[in-house]
Order: sequence, then C-alpha cells, then structure tokens
Amino acid sequence: MADPLIEIKDVHKVYRDSDPPVNALNGVDLSIEKNEFVCVVGPSGCGKTTLLNIIAGLESFDDGRVQMNGEDIIGPGPDRGVIFQQYALFPWMTVQRNIEYGMKFLRHENGAKYSRPEKKELAGYYIKMVNLEGFENAYPKALSGGMKQRVAIARGYAVNPKVLLMDEPFGALDAQTRAQLQEELLLTWEKEQKTCFFITHDVDEAVLLATRVIIMSARPGRIIDEVNIDLPYPRNQATKLVPEFIKHRNYIWDTVYKLYLEVRK
Ligand SMILES: Nc1ncnc2c1ncn2[C@@H]1O[C@H](COP(=O)(O)OP(=O)(O)O)[C@@H](O)[C@H]1O
Ligand SMILES: [Mg+2]
Repeated sequence: MADPLIEIKDVHKVYRDSDPPVNALNGVDLSIEKNEFVCVVGPSGCGKTTLLNIIAGLESFDDGRVQMNGEDIIGPGPDRGVIFQQYALFPWMTVQRNIEYGMKFLRHENGAKYSRPEKKELAGYYIKMVNLEGFENAYPKALSGGMKQRVAIARGYAVNPKVLLMDEPFGALDAQTRAQLQEELLLTWEKEQKTCFFITHDVDEAVLLATRVIIMSARPGRIIDEVNIDLPYPRNQATKLVPEFIKHRNYIWDTVYKLYLEVRK
C-alpha cells in the first residue's frame, strides 16, 4: 500500500485548562489515503472537532504523532483547507473577495504569485462550481445560509489544498439545502477526487458521502469501528433507497446509538 497522506498514531489529548481536566482523545490511530472521503461519526463531545483541529494544526496534542506526507504537522498550512460549520466568511468582503482571500498563498511552479486576473479566473471557476454565478459582488449578509456555506466550500477548494477538513459543514442548514449541497459535494468529489475528512452527526449523510466511515466512541474519544462504503457513483438522494446503503446506515446508526446510551447511563 502507498504511504498514507495523513497518518495519526496513538494521539492523546487532555484539555488541562478545564477543571477537572477533560480527557478528549485517548489513543487515536487513523491513516487516510489520497482520494479517500472519510466521514467521522460519534456521540456529541467524543472529540471529533478536537481531532479535526489537530489535523488542521490549530490544536496541540499530548502524546502520539500526526503526519502529512511523512512530515509532522506543527501548525496550519495551505495543504489543508478547513470548512467550519459557521461559514466564517469575512463580512466586509464580497463573495468574490472571500473566495480569493486564501489565494495570496498560492504559487505557480516557478514560485510566482497569482496575478489579479488569474485569481479572478480561478475564483470564477469555483463560483460556477458551487452555483453562485451572479452573486460575485454580493456581501455575505445578503446571502442565505446555504449560499454562505457554498462560498465557504468554494473558498476551501479555491486554495487547492491536498485535503479538505470539514466540521459539520451542513449541520446548520435546512434539510433541502443540505441535500442539495451534499449532491454538489458528491459531484465535485467525483470530478476532483479531493481527499476529504468530514465530520457529521448525520449517519445518512456519512454513508452517502463517504468512501469510509469512522466511528468514534464517547469521551475519551477513540476509533472503535470503521465501515468501507463501496456504493457506486454517481450517488444522489436516491442512493438512500439502495439495500446496501440501508445495511450500512442501520449498522452505523445502531453502533452510534449504543455509544450514546452508554454515555446517558
Ligand atoms: N478548548 C477546550 N477546552 C476545554 N475542553 C474542551 C475544549 N474543546 C473541547 N473540549 C471538550 O473536549 C471534549 C471533546 O470536544 P469536541 O472535540 O468538540 O467534541 P465533538 O466535536 O465530538 O462534539 C468535550 O467534552 C468538550 O467539552
Ligand atoms: Mg464538534
């Protein structure tokens, strides 16, 4: 097997500032190959966001090792694009400018920065990808939740990271908008095969999007199970009626629900 793109080995994380300290991750092992779409599910508070932030380089950890392309992750970098649940757009910038923002870090092979027209052209490509043509000059406050999330997704793609890290990106949206964005994301993944690490509490969403679903136990978080999802593409909402989908969905749902009940005891 090829070297994994991301390798997480025996990672531990305690939040010591809390009283009492919170044992958030307790020995997490995970390898992610290039082009995988990994979805992470698990009970609330099990350490999903902590794990994502560690991969993003936004959070420290205690023991273990976290590597990308064989090198330790020591901070954030343009090889990892992060898409949060709450859009995190700059309100004073237009859609176009928000998407262009991260491009100041982009370089051509000869080291040259991207010119204004090049950035504009690239932003245009991603604006089209997320169906926001005509809204280039709009400000975030004039957009619906779904449109803002599209801008955040376009911004994540536009800096061409090796991996997209998404923390419940559709969690705050209504069901119809979520379904539409799921399908757009599936089409984009089929085309670009960008490696994705995607957190969700929605098991249907995980099975629909993922090539592999990771199940985390209640705090302190560990990976306790994983399921390969070999459903064919193209996938869309109708995929949810396929027996193979229902089988995976029921198994993962039962597993997560048992973990949830253990926490409630
Ligand atoms: N900055 C922090 N300081 C102290 N405790 C934290 C911090 N961030 C998260 N936690 C705690 O760590 C645990 C895991 O949190 P989190 O990674 O956000 O879980 P999840 O995303 O799975 O819901 C929770 O108990 C949470 O309260
Ligand atoms: Mg979270």
